[in-house]
Amino acid sequence: VGVTFQLMLAVGTAAIGSLQFGYNTGVINAPQKVIETFLNDTWNHRYSEPIPAASLTTLWSVSVAIFSVGGIFGSFSVSLFVNRLGRRNSMFIANVLAFIAAGFMGFSKMAESWELLIIGRFIVGLYSGLSTGFVPMYVGEISPTPLRGALGTLHQLGIVIGILMAQVFGIESIMGNSTMWPFLLGFTLIPATLQCMLLPFCPESPRFLLINRNEEIKAREVLEKLRGTEEVGTDINEMKEESRQMMREKKVTILELFRSPIYRQPIFIAIMLQLSQQLSGINAVFYYSTRIFEKAGVSQPVYATIGAGVVNTAFTVVSLFIVERAGRRSLHLTGLLGMAFSAVLMTVAMSLLDQLPWMSYVSIVAIFSFVAFFEIGPGPIPWFIVAELFSQGPRPSAFAVAGFSNWSANFIVGMTFQYVEQLCGPYVFIIFTVLLLGFFIFTYFKVPETKGRSFDEISAGFRHEAGQAGDKYAPDEMNSLGGADSQL
Ligand SMILES: *[C@@H]1O[C@H](CO)[C@@H](O)[C@H](O)[C@H]1NC(C)=O
Repeated sequence: VGVTFQLMLAVGTAAIGSLQFGYNTGVINAPQKVIETFLNDTWNHRYSEPIPAASLTTLWSVSVAIFSVGGIFGSFSVSLFVNRLGRRNSMFIANVLAFIAAGFMGFSKMAESWELLIIGRFIVGLYSGLSTGFVPMYVGEISPTPLRGALGTLHQLGIVIGILMAQVFGIESIMGNSTMWPFLLGFTLIPATLQCMLLPFCPESPRFLLINRNEEIKAREVLEKLRGTEEVGTDINEMKEESRQMMREKKVTILELFRSPIYRQPIFIAIMLQLSQQLSGINAVFYYSTRIFEKAGVSQPVYATIGAGVVNTAFTVVSLFIVERAGRRSLHLTGLLGMAFSAVLMTVAMSLLDQLPWMSYVSIVAIFSFVAFFEIGPGPIPWFIVAELFSQGPRPSAFAVAGFSNWSANFIVGMTFQYVEQLCGPYVFIIFTVLLLGFFIFTYFKVPETKGRSFDEISAGFRHEAGQAGDKYAPDEMNSLGGADSQL
């Protein structure tokens, strides 16, 4: 299948939204000390006394966590935009939020106001929540079926490159210092400007044009440009078939997703996959990696953290190449099992560190492999498997629910990890191991393989299953369960 310039331009431009999400996820951790000093100084200036330690912790935690709260609201608003404005215009307009956020965060130091910083973090969270809905949807809808998986991982690639950029820019000699940190946070302005300049050259999603707007001629034109060929009949027919089905099934609201027996199982799977991504403990690892490397006697822990960022990026690329060949389900299972193994290794290494100093190297290996396995499965797979489980009617609502689950889990891990870590010490990763094994079992028994199947075939599998609950060995159902024997 031809990868055209137009397709790559559109996918690349959309992925800037993913980059923004990754950047703002990673940006706040490196300059923590510097920003804490800013909070202290500002407090001192306002109240003529140094900031109490508890207030500092509160202000800092709010600055970090409010991002996830913005993300929850943003991801829940995705369906308000995409069906009215279209996918491309929604991405364009969302940049208003990125501009405002960059301004607020960038000027917070000058204005001596942590309120601006916190509001800015909230707004950029809103933007990121919208992006995590817009980007996979747009990319999924403009990609040819055989490339849907590989291009879908570009969303994840954008995120990890964003995180890596934030880690590198956050080095003290670059922007992680007391004078430059407003630029580090305000950097969001630049990708936003770039995306606004490129989006006018990207087409609207042909699925949106054909199905939401009923403009077949435009949809055909767009498809011809995207595919670089005039033979777009197969795509058009697949969409029309979907459209006909929508006439029968109508638009599905979020409540209906949970009420209808047809959607109940796919939406449950979508939620569980999102939870498996966040509750795997990946953000906990990223948050603590510097401290762990410090303990391990690495002289430059910041660079070791960047090393984890590089592993993160490299394995996203690896998964980009193998995702179509291996299938989403097998990759997700492999990733979960590998992460569980790495978490056990990390626990062992951390608890033996006092007796055996060389265990520090084992813990570095464990962290790198934890991150690598995350990017093989739980990182990229949940985002676009949602797109593949639902046809046009329920998809926007499904995306909203999936995004909401992901952000909520993100928020929960961010808020509770420190307390749990204080309680459990080096055994904290045992909790993630248990969760990971639980998600492995769930995926093994419940998640169907979506590789190379049209939306139609996948949802037909669920309908069949819903109609024949109890008949465990119907051949179609085996198929929709992923054919456990043929995978892995
Ligand atoms: C705040 O700054 C003052 C010096 O201006 C310092 O003595 C104090 O330890 C700082 N407070 C915290 C919580 O870091």
